[in-house]
Amino acid sequence: MTHSHDTVDLSCTIAGVRFPLCLMNASGALCVTREELEALGRSRTGAIVTKSMTLEARTGNPEPRYYPFAGGSINSMGLPNLGYRAYAELIPALKTFRKPVIASVAGLCEDDFPEIARTIARVGPDLVEVNLSCPNIPGKPQIGYDFEASERLIRRVRAVVACPLGVKLPPYFDPAHHAAMAKVLKRAPVDFLSLINSVGNALVIDPDRESVVIKPKGGFGGLGGPGIKPVALANVRAFWKAFDGRIPIIGVGGVASGTDAFEHLLAGASAVQIGTAYLLSYNVKVLKMVAVNDCGIPINPLTVESQVIGCMIQGVSWALWENRILDRNVGTMVNPNLESYKILSASDMFEAHSLLTPVANGGQNTSTAGIGEPPITPTLAAVANAVYNATGARVRRLPITPDVMLAALADAKRRA
Ligand SMILES: Cc1cc2nc3c(=O)[nH]c(=O)nc-3n(C[C@H](O)[C@H](O)[C@H](O)COP(=O)(O)O)c2cc1C
Repeated sequence: MTHSHDTVDLSCTIAGVRFPLCLMNASGALCVTREELEALGRSRTGAIVTKSMTLEARTGNPEPRYYPFAGGSINSMGLPNLGYRAYAELIPALKTFRKPVIASVAGLCEDDFPEIARTIARVGPDLVEVNLSCPNIPGKPQIGYDFEASERLIRRVRAVVACPLGVKLPPYFDPAHHAAMAKVLKRAPVDFLSLINSVGNALVIDPDRESVVIKPKGGFGGLGGPGIKPVALANVRAFWKAFDGRIPIIGVGGVASGTDAFEHLLAGASAVQIGTAYLLSYNVKVLKMVAVNDCGIPINPLTVESQVIGCMIQGVSWALWENRILDRNVGTMVNPNLESYKILSASDMFEAHSLLTPVANGGQNTSTAGIGEPPITPTLAAVANAVYNATGARVRRLPITPDVMLAALADAKRRA
């Protein structure tokens, strides 16, 4: 990164590959499907990082398996991905976006890694990132915590990959472990490091429901987001020192702002990946809403305004979360609970203003009227229109969840 008087050059070079911008998605964050990967291609991200791919396609662990909360996110996805053959077909098309493509390679056993890496390397990704640190496959230990297995595996992958090769490591919490892994990486060299993967096997409990928040592995999952930034920075710094700054490091963990990214660069990273914050970025959030209603002459304006604000809350809830799923065979609702039937919560509340107009309504001479449901309905359209104004994408399906947003953006692009 270099400065001139009034511009900042945020490009960077990692293992000889030039990145137009030193910011990119972290593997796993909206990079599983063709649509998601192409959305990254069209965006200003400095690279396209794929989901960690396995030998066979995987649907992953049972839901709920991802849960965002105030401190970040916990997930136990279980590597849902299309399987490496599908990514081998996609990568040449992704390269037409003219930014580096990083293929993330995983496996369920040691033999999987070289097999996947050999085929993937042939289709021309700019870099290969070997995921030694998936904490979320039930019954599978993280390879990165087994130094011998890591060394063996890196050697086997290195033998079949000609392009720059890096490893994505789990967080280490003891200097002895940083030193041990650094030794491995000096004996079995790689071209770059991605630090860190999720902080594995954490537990988030919802005290109100007296329950863990994700289903797989009894609620244990990998942490991401703001809470893990100090751990990520410590790992970036420790490996930067172990290599005297002579290996490029991609910092990952807790980046949600320019300042967070800058801290990673100060610790020694050359580029930064964004996971949890990127997943949140397709969440539509209503910040402020003004409702203007004609209801004649209100006898008690405060009550009417409260009623309107209540309607706006219901409308926003309907627009962004509520999703009644029916069993088509018997017609019953299959999510009749607040675990999977989401509504707006306190942290989603927006600045709400109600204005009552004194315009005569419908020629009634008393000019009195009720104000029940009518303020709810236009709220839905207002949210969808605000999304359109902000993004150019028409959303025609409710609730407007990140997957609906992504599909709408892809549709807008096709029509353009
Ligand atoms: C939903 C989800 C899926 C993830 N999948 C992968 C993956 O397939 N491969 C990988 O190397 N890391 C994966 N990660 C870890 C992220 O790439 C990243 O290392 C971690 O979330 C820390 O970054 P953050 O604080 O920006 O979220 C995943 C993280 C999340 C939240």
